[in-house]
Amino acid sequence: MDRTLLITGATGTVSGALIEALHDCGFRLRALIRDPSKAEPLRARGIDVRIGDLDEPRSLPPAFEGVHDLWLVVPNGPRAAENNMNAVWAARRANVERVVRLSAVGAAHDAPTRSGRLHALSDHEVRRSGLGWTVLRPHWFMQNLLAEADDIATEGTFRLNTADGRLGMVDARDIAALAAKVLTDGPNHHHERIYTPTGPQSIGFADVARQFERVLGAPVRYVPTADDEREARLLGFGVPAWIVGMLTEYARAYASGWGDFTTTDVEDVTGRRPRGIADFARDHADAFTGGVSGGGSGRCGADGR
Ligand SMILES: NC(=O)c1ccc[n+]([C@@H]2O[C@H](COP(=O)([O-])OP(=O)(O)OC[C@H]3O[C@@H](n4cnc5c(N)ncnc54)[C@H](OP(=O)(O)O)[C@@H]3O)[C@@H](O)[C@H]2O)c1
Repeated sequence: MDRTLLITGATGTVSGALIEALHDCGFRLRALIRDPSKAEPLRARGIDVRIGDLDEPRSLPPAFEGVHDLWLVVPNGPRAAENNMNAVWAARRANVERVVRLSAVGAAHDAPTRSGRLHALSDHEVRRSGLGWTVLRPHWFMQNLLAEADDIATEGTFRLNTADGRLGMVDARDIAALAAKVLTDGPNHHHERIYTPTGPQSIGFADVARQFERVLGAPVRYVPTADDEREARLLGFGVPAWIVGMLTEYARAYASGWGDFTTTDVEDVTGRRPRGIADFARDHADAFTGGVSGGGSGRCGADGR
């Protein structure tokens, strides 16, 4: 394949899994990162690393020059729509052919979260950009649970403010597998499609705890907490207030049943059933028992299974 793919968010969760899944797929891989000190592991994989900051449009054109396909991830934050705008501007300027954009579950102008409303603006921008486009609106990432790994490893409990809400949570590796298939299928195959990757099952965190117990062979308990308790804890860890507010909005939505659904998009596009929470717990058992987590595999479309 004689195409250059620019990967944004290249040091992040989904893009990291995407880089893994795209190994040996024939793309010339290029990564946009903002912190030069994070370049080496990407360069070691043969990836052409370019330094640029989505906050600063002037920094972007050299990274976009000669790019055919753009994997567009914007960080969660108040500048998300501006970051998307800067990337789409640079892509149009460089005659990029198509963009595959990571959005979020339920993105809509009347979404219950500020993140969902910002993603709706950026989805709209991409759809009207004149570029070929595909949008992925994944459900809650199982990888978010890694933030609770210390509590699970040391106390056998984790505390969230989603009450007994159920979510069609998805493993980020399955989002990446779907994205990799969209990208390798060529520019026209998934044009104007919106996918909502979810896991195979909609579950609440009490069920998550039970499945963790089975896999880890140690007691794990979910302790529902109040919003203000959760917020105080996150603020204490230094999480920015904007993000804390956004997380509470998601927690309220999930507690009300807003996320209680699954789709078949991962299996429909990739031909593989998405991972369940037990698979996720098994693959990250080291992290949840006090060790470190393992890596992936290495061929085109490989999803680490
Ligand atoms: N977590 C969920 O459950 C969930 C669910 C659905 C959708 N999403 C969406 O997923 C996206 C985040 O994906 P992720 O979790 O894979 O990312 P992530 O792990 O949070 O990483 C964010 C990436 O963006 C980079 N970045 C941050 N600011 C940047 C800037 N100004 N210029 C260039 N790069 C910048 C970071 O680089 P550094 O290494 O330099 O920080 C990092 O590579 C968000 O849009 C979020 O709304 C999340």
